[in-house]
Amino acid sequence: MSNVKVSLRNVCKVFDASPAAALDDVSLDIAEGGICVLMGLSGSGKSTLLRTINGLAPPSSGQVLIDGVDLNCLAPRQLQQLRRESMGMVFQSSALFPHRSVIDNAAFGLEIAGVGRAERHRRASAMLEQVGLLAHAQQRPDQLSGGMRQRVGLARALAVDPALLLMDEAFSALDPLKRREMQELLLALQRERRRTIVFVSHDIDEALHLGDQIALLHGGQLVQHGTSRDLLSNPVNDHVREFFHSADTSSHLLATDLIDHEAVSTLASGQPSVAADARLSELMPRLTAYRMPLTVRDASGVALGLITAASALRIISRASARG
Ligand SMILES: Nc1ncnc2c1ncn2[C@@H]1O[C@H](COP(=O)(O)OP(=O)(O)OP(=O)(O)O)[C@@H](O)[C@H]1O
Ligand SMILES: [Mg+2]
Repeated sequence: MSNVKVSLRNVCKVFDASPAAALDDVSLDIAEGGICVLMGLSGSGKSTLLRTINGLAPPSSGQVLIDGVDLNCLAPRQLQQLRRESMGMVFQSSALFPHRSVIDNAAFGLEIAGVGRAERHRRASAMLEQVGLLAHAQQRPDQLSGGMRQRVGLARALAVDPALLLMDEAFSALDPLKRREMQELLLALQRERRRTIVFVSHDIDEALHLGDQIALLHGGQLVQHGTSRDLLSNPVNDHVREFFHSADTSSHLLATDLIDHEAVSTLASGQPSVAADARLSELMPRLTAYRMPLTVRDASGVALGLITAASALRIISRASARG
């Protein structure tokens, strides 16, 4: 079990202007070094949850802990320091300064953190190179495309090397191709240097693609939190099932998700077997070809259980059935 980076404990948030709670008793642990995607319909509380983490929308009750430190216990200046030094934020329209060059925009977070000019240009250049924009360092934001501006926003957030990156619909304004490109860039950056990322999205495919963990909100409540495979193969209710209905289930379920836990295990060495991480696309043809259960084996060959045609069908249809 990895360390918990961010922990919400019974967080409620009520805004004066609206009677209904924007967050209703949310408890959630976000693991260090992973990408947690917050999902939910419009108005479900995703942005509000993100803003309780950066301290801009303190909970009405409950606690938010970062590295075990309760934000309620920090003085405003300490909170501001925490935000500047260890958090990066990227939003849908990454509001760049129009009169600053790309590099000065990318260096902005370092500037307010008090980093000297030479050093901040060095670090901002390195970040621009990573996002593929070094050649545009001296241009102004209005000379860039929307996708490029979004990359500057990402470079700006990453230049301070934040341990925690908060992204709110960061790629939503981009066309599908640019969006995919940014997702790949984020995953590549993540492979190089693992950060804890909380990523708000209402796009299911984006969530499945990026999220190590997915937290689904509905009406301010946390409905389910788990891996994408947990949510696909064991939705806790019809809302979750309905939510993932349009997702391409088959590309996310693995052999290990389809094990028939009720089947009496008659594991024999002669039976056809399949790797625990085999995808549905490679497993289904074998299940139909052999007309007998498949033994699921882990990397060291240990049998984990059986997949029968019935169990596979049951789990796949549970994941994709309409509520
Ligand atoms: N500053 C505010 N003042 C009053 N109500 C607010 C405020 N911010 C959010 N809310 C309310 O809290 C609820 C949750 O809003 P929030 O912005 O967190 O939703 P969201 O899931 O991010 O939605 P979207 O997908 O549309 O961005 C909504 O009912 C919204 O009207
Ligand atoms: Mg929002």
